[in-house]
Amino acid sequence: MTKQGTFTLKKSLIAMTFAAASSVANAGEVEVLHWWTSGGEAKSAAVLKQMLEQQGDSWKDFAVAGGGGESAMTVLKTRAVSGNPPSAAQIKGHDIQEWGDLGFLTSLDDVAEAGQWDKVLPAVVTKVMKYNGDYVAVPVNVHRVNWLWANPEVFKKAGATVPANMDEFFAAAEKIKAAGFVPLAHGGQPWQDATLFEAVALDILGSQDYNKAFVDLDMDVLSGPKMVETFATFQRMHDYIDENSPGRDWNIATSMVINGEAAMQIMGDWAKGEFAAAGKQPGKDYICAPAPGTANQFTFNIDSFAFFKLSNKDNEEAQKHLAKTILNKDFQEVFNLNKGSIPVRLDMNMDKFDKCALDSMATFKASAQTGDLVPSMAHGLATTSYVQGAVYDVVTNFFNDTSADPKQAAQQLARAVKAAM
Ligand code: BGC
Repeated sequence: MTKQGTFTLKKSLIAMTFAAASSVANAGEVEVLHWWTSGGEAKSAAVLKQMLEQQGDSWKDFAVAGGGGESAMTVLKTRAVSGNPPSAAQIKGHDIQEWGDLGFLTSLDDVAEAGQWDKVLPAVVTKVMKYNGDYVAVPVNVHRVNWLWANPEVFKKAGATVPANMDEFFAAAEKIKAAGFVPLAHGGQPWQDATLFEAVALDILGSQDYNKAFVDLDMDVLSGPKMVETFATFQRMHDYIDENSPGRDWNIATSMVINGEAAMQIMGDWAKGEFAAAGKQPGKDYICAPAPGTANQFTFNIDSFAFFKLSNKDNEEAQKHLAKTILNKDFQEVFNLNKGSIPVRLDMNMDKFDKCALDSMATFKASAQTGDLVPSMAHGLATTSYVQGAVYDVVTNFFNDTSADPKQAAQQLARAVKAAM
């Protein structure tokens, strides 16, 4: 090596050492609140932690168990009110606006501009992530909620076929029950009741009236004849769940389908994360089909992290690394393969994704054109947490009282929503 070469090498080594030292010196910590604790969820969260740590920052895990995130939101409120919020929290939909109103969230516009978020994300998503025109949250994925997960072996043993509409659902459920299996795996928790209810509502109301009910909060639709029919159909489903349903976690319900105890579950595609974590193959070990009667419709649920104002500069930097990483293409791929959702970026290569994910992506894009892309009420995308809570109460009370009157329930629903508006 020439003298000049040795000198250049030395110089770059010194520069590298300095850069490494300074990146460690600047490395910050992000504390991240989430509720991803099931098998598939934990695997997905681990990808984010790993990618952040690779950049020299540290991850302080703040996991609060409880599907749907109700417990996580309660814990978050306590922490924020005591003046000690985490760096980022899994906050979705309308809740982002509520936290923005309270003045807790920080702007991510510099990261968003550098990453051209406005360009790579669908408008239906960016709208939700901005508060007063500034990005304050980063989307992780798009979950489709109106899915049905089926065990083909159980269907075969019962001589039933995977249902495409409600009539077929009840016909199949009868056969499966007679064959000694649980037709519908369900966890009796308010958010799961609401998830099932919203799938039935989507079919019976249709997309337009679904939006009128849960987005516009139209009293006539909320208390109208189609809502009565929705409650009546939802009530019929109760005959096909087992008596151990109350309080059961959603992933336990999924495992009943995985191990052949139950035939079906109506649940968002985070359930696919459980099948994947159990090493199951779609099309072979399990079937994904649209929830009965909702083939061309898409109830969307977008997971996102909202970012809180911090006072420590290094932690602020680390926060930006996290925001950037979430929309990194490699992260989007690995995370969503584990989580069961589809990437939120529109410019992704989908080669590694399975048929369920490809169907989801195709329906996501097509439904955006036809008006059949609707926000999930049960998962906080359609309305405020107050209205959502009111719907949960009416729906859960109704479902737990098998003699409740569907007509009265629809009227109660309208009254409860009105009081929460
Ligand atoms: C979240 C999913 C999560 C599911 C069950 C939903 O509200 O969006 O990410 O997997 O709850 O915990």
